[in-house]
Amino acid sequence: MVAQLNSPDSVTLPAFLAACRGQPVPHTPIWIMRQAGRYLPEYRELRSKVDFVALTRTPELAAEVTMQPLRRFELDAAILFSDIMTPLQGMGVALEFAPGPIVRDPIRTDAQIDALPPLVPARDVPFTLESIRLVRANVPRGAPLIGFAGGAFTLFCYLVCGRPSKEFGAARSFLYAHPESAERLLDKLADAMAVYLRAQAEAGAQALMIFESWAGLLGPREFQRFALRAVKRTVAGLKGVGVPLIYYANNGGAVLDQVATLDVDVAGIDWRTPLSAARRTLGPNKAVQGNLDPAALFAEPAELQRHVDAVLLEAGPGPGHIFNLGHGIWQETNPDAVARLVDYVHETTARAGQVAGAR
Ligand code: CP3
Repeated sequence: MVAQLNSPDSVTLPAFLAACRGQPVPHTPIWIMRQAGRYLPEYRELRSKVDFVALTRTPELAAEVTMQPLRRFELDAAILFSDIMTPLQGMGVALEFAPGPIVRDPIRTDAQIDALPPLVPARDVPFTLESIRLVRANVPRGAPLIGFAGGAFTLFCYLVCGRPSKEFGAARSFLYAHPESAERLLDKLADAMAVYLRAQAEAGAQALMIFESWAGLLGPREFQRFALRAVKRTVAGLKGVGVPLIYYANNGGAVLDQVATLDVDVAGIDWRTPLSAARRTLGPNKAVQGNLDPAALFAEPAELQRHVDAVLLEAGPGPGHIFNLGHGIWQETNPDAVARLVDYVHETTARAGQVAGAR
């Protein structure tokens, strides 16, 4: 990546994509995990008329919700409005959202694992691919679009437990009780997500993010055997895809040395690990994304700025930082705080005279 510092691309790439590749940027780019969603009045308004699954499966509506935060804030990237469970639903797993995913028949047997079909994107998730095309054609300021998928282990947690949970006891005990069956299910999910993510890139997604939201449930040995092995399989399946890959392990401070071995461009960092420490562990060849505590958006404006300054200081002056929260934005957040955050990150990081007009 260092070799690309002076590449001519750096003049024309949007700041978000340049930062993903560790190239210089006119300002630190920012987007926000779960930026399309319930903290926005315009989302709640639409949601009062249309249920969540219909929103994810109607391309015009999914594209509209994807673009809502981009109209309100000067965000540097859009993330597709969908859910990590949407492709599984497309593959025939019966589930509903209330509001978190509830799986009708949690997967607990080898027969159920064998019955899980491979993902065929054009058949199972055509609406997602069409949403991507619509966003690309209409997104404000030509902002780059991020496609995403759940990490296999995070999907495994929902499929085996059947519902959101703090500890995901049924999923974690399954790892110890039936490790080989767990690996088989994880492999199937990992392969499906590789196919899914590649289809998103082919439809126009300009970066791909893998959310390992429940990484923090595992000790380092189990993370390595189950979560890391599976995500390596997904990443291997994405070889040559041509867009930056972002891997986010929530509460993953204890496994960052393992994340460092993944062949991805960017590591998403939660708020518990200082970005300077993350950079030391990850080395110079990965950009970092994060990591303001979502709770900091409840601070007074001047206090919020001090917390943003602290994140920027930890990230350091070098290239390869994408500002974000350390996890998804809370639905109780005041959108005005988001506006202040986005503007402040842009103002304080604008580098006079550098790559003017690239934003
Ligand atoms: O980031 C975005 O703005 C894009 C949309 C997006 C959603 N889910 C929409 C959604 C993304 C990227 C996700 C990913 C997702 N879904 C993750 C990984 C990211 C993370 O936060 O860790 C996880 C663990 C899920 C599972 C899930 N789906 C949960 C726990 C919930 C419950 C409520 C919530 O908002 O957190 C959902 C439902 C869901 N997914 C909603 C939205 C906007 C709320 C549904 C509603 O409107 O009722």
